[in-house]
Amino acid sequence: AKDLGSDIERILVTEEEIKARLAELAEQIDADYAGRDVLLVGVLKGAVMVMADLARSLRSHVEMDWMAVSSYGSGTKSSGVVRILKDLDTDLTGRDVLIVEDIIDSGLTLSWLVSNLRSRGANSVEICTLLRKPEAAKVEIDVKYVGFDVPNEFVIGYGLDYAEKYRNVPFVATLAPHVYS
Ligand code: PRP
Ligand code: MN
Ligand code: MG
Repeated sequence: AKDLGSDIERILVTEEEIKARLAELAEQIDADYAGRDVLLVGVLKGAVMVMADLARSLRSHVEMDWMAVSSYGSGTKSSGVVRILKDLDTDLTGRDVLIVEDIIDSGLTLSWLVSNLRSRGANSVEICTLLRKPEAAKVEIDVKYVGFDVPNEFVIGYGLDYAEKYRNVPFVATLAPHVYS
């Protein structure tokens, strides 16, 4: 396999920073949902790393389910067209749902997803995202838990891909220009 190192331009969030921030968010989530049964909904594929690490930082027991939606295709731009590739197995009636995401970019994916999940009769639907790009927002979304705000650059790693690659990079980084050419 190819070495990933030469494709990385700049590290924006280190492994240590991610771990520490997720521990803080987990503590807040434990407190906010005390005594309630939470359903974590991970948005495939980007959210796998956040889901795995956040869930293991929680002290409360939770359920986990997954949805696959896609808005980017294989490029770097959000199209606004959200497709369900895999739906939840769980009935959301009366559930307290916490959507787990890697990044909010334009916000189009989550704004669609939140209303979709609310329409299924959930008791509450909140969002936890590791990253958010405030300058890229096309729609306003109420996000309860945010790890880090990042600049409006294309970022990869910790679940985030470019053309399906770089998801296994353990930190969040920008790519060297040669990757795109
Ligand atoms: C990415 C990312 C978020 C979404 C954010 O997923 O993981 O889910 O786009 O973009 P938005 O705020 O502009 O809608 P993508 O559609 O690339 O699928 P993936 O998670 O499988 O990579
Ligand atoms: Mn995604
Ligand atoms: Mg993607």
